[in-house]
Amino acid sequence: MAIDIAKIKADALKGIEASQDSDSLDSIKIKYLGRKSEINVYLKNIKNLDSEERAQLGQETNAVKQEIKKALDQKIKETREKEVSERMTKEKIDITAPGKKIELGSLHPITQALRDTRRIFTSMGFYVVEGPEVEEEFYNFDALNIPKDHPSRDLMDTFWLKNEGEDDSLLLRTHTSPMQIRFMEKHNPPFRIIVPGRVFRHEATDASHEIQFYQVEGLMIDKNVSLAHLKGILTHFLNEFFKKDVEVRFHQSYFPFTEPSVEVFMKLKGKWIEVGGAGMVHPNVFKAVKYIPPGPDSWQGFAFGMGLDRLVMIKHDIDDVRLLYGGDLRFLKQF
Ligand code: DAH
Repeated sequence: MAIDIAKIKADALKGIEASQDSDSLDSIKIKYLGRKSEINVYLKNIKNLDSEERAQLGQETNAVKQEIKKALDQKIKETREKEVSERMTKEKIDITAPGKKIELGSLHPITQALRDTRRIFTSMGFYVVEGPEVEEEFYNFDALNIPKDHPSRDLMDTFWLKNEGEDDSLLLRTHTSPMQIRFMEKHNPPFRIIVPGRVFRHEATDASHEIQFYQVEGLMIDKNVSLAHLKGILTHFLNEFFKKDVEVRFHQSYFPFTEPSVEVFMKLKGKWIEVGGAGMVHPNVFKAVKYIPPGPDSWQGFAFGMGLDRLVMIKHDIDDVRLLYGGDLRFLKQF
């Protein structure tokens, strides 16, 4: 029943020294200091020895036990610290690891169309200008030769913001044409501009009507500008926009601010589709912006207005305009 206390001590200390992780230190603790360890079993049975021997062996064994405990506690502490710091190092960002993919978004089809439109028209020497969405009645109607009780005001279902019919009235522009007036008030010809922008109509929505949509207005004023130029320019624009050869046809029409007026059609996949209105700028419009009155020296030019949403829908085979404003990702991710 005697134990070799010196050997136990040497083995324990050697084991502690050699241990590299908490798990092996835990098993050393059980082996040398646990309830069933040689030392503890021995100490438990020491009462059977005679008293002189008992005191001495007891002291010796307890001293060894304390020594092992001290060495073990110290090593456990060091090992835990080392393990925690290793774990923290491991969890640091590894800059050599391959990156996580960031999902790329895409431009809204209307944004793409606006960009294409700017690019194509600027390549033909047009300037791009923008106007206010909140507009004065004068610019939206009166200056465009649409007087107060003109029937064509009925065609424009207007969101009135303030005092319809009074001097300080405000509305959401029903078309981009008011920018024709604003631009001509400040600039003398010759010039060519386009005005892309959002317009608003107070009407019930359905597959082909929205309360907001985009137009591209065009205005080119010079000494010798004709509808033939307009046709050439619109044909080039539509060819580039659709990346296909399209045919353009004018059909007689009526707008208060042009004379003569035409509707613009293009032929795509064998079908004639209306894409906008146009015409030669009406003399009353020139009068409103105080250009030289009609005569051999006067300016002339064309104006046009196209519905951009319409072009987008044709280009991408979209059958409901409301999809363009719904923000549904299942729709938008296709572009
Ligand atoms: N402003 C018209 C509309 O919204 C479109 C239009 C027609 C614009 C003829 C023009 C034009 O510049 O000459 O229905």
